Amino acid sequence: MRPEEAKHFYDHLGSGQDWQRLYENPAISELIAHLAFDSAHSVFEFGCGTGTFAARLLQRDLPADARYVGLDISSTMVSLAQQRLKPWPGRARVYQTDGSPRIPEPDHSFDHFVSTYVFDLLAPDFIEQLLSEGRRLLVPGGRLCLASLAFGTSRFSRAVCWGWQSLWQLSPSIVGGCHPIELLEYLPFKDWNPVHRVTLTS
Ligand SMILES: C[S@@+](CC[C@H](N)C(=O)[O-])C[C@H]1O[C@@H](n2cnc3c(N)ncnc32)[C@H](O)[C@@H]1O
Repeated sequence: MRPEEAKHFYDHLGSGQDWQRLYENPAISELIAHLAFDSAHSVFEFGCGTGTFAARLLQRDLPADARYVGLDISSTMVSLAQQRLKPWPGRARVYQTDGSPRIPEPDHSFDHFVSTYVFDLLAPDFIEQLLSEGRRLLVPGGRLCLASLAFGTSRFSRAVCWGWQSLWQLSPSIVGGCHPIELLEYLPFKDWNPVHRVTLTS
């Protein structure tokens, strides 16, 4: 999905995005449980949506002095996230971008780079540019934390994914531009050292 299409779709979807939590939550919990957020100092999120992930981190998982920065292309999502993160004024900052993969944050300024259910709507060359930005933003040894739709692992989940992929091929906007992808194809082991990887069926 092109950035301007994503903006249009997510500006209209607004808080309806939170319904996706029904299937997203198990993967998000897994990510939080395994990627040392309890010792994080600085978390960056690409495509923060309504700010639910950030609110959960700030409320339950991050140390009290850790900071969070999130961005999104959708003005609706940014204002929902800013509203949701009001209880943490000194620690959380959310802003809107033009959808470029270039991130206006300094080199090596975060120890966690997060993006959940965003890579699965981006074009492959966009993902590659975004991963280079991830490397630039992260401190040495920092963590890239990703969740996306994946291809199923059981007969039933494969059938659901096949149906989802067919809808996406028909018209990406039916499914918000998202479709199953194989994240590891974008992460060559020479560049990234895998800490934890799992495929879940919600
Ligand atoms: C499926 S939603 C996921 C939102 C959130 N990360 C979550 O897990 O609930 C995709 C989000 O990515 C944002 N997005 C899509 N393309 C983007 C781009 N090029 N730059 C920044 N945000 C983008 C959308 O506006 C939307 O908020």
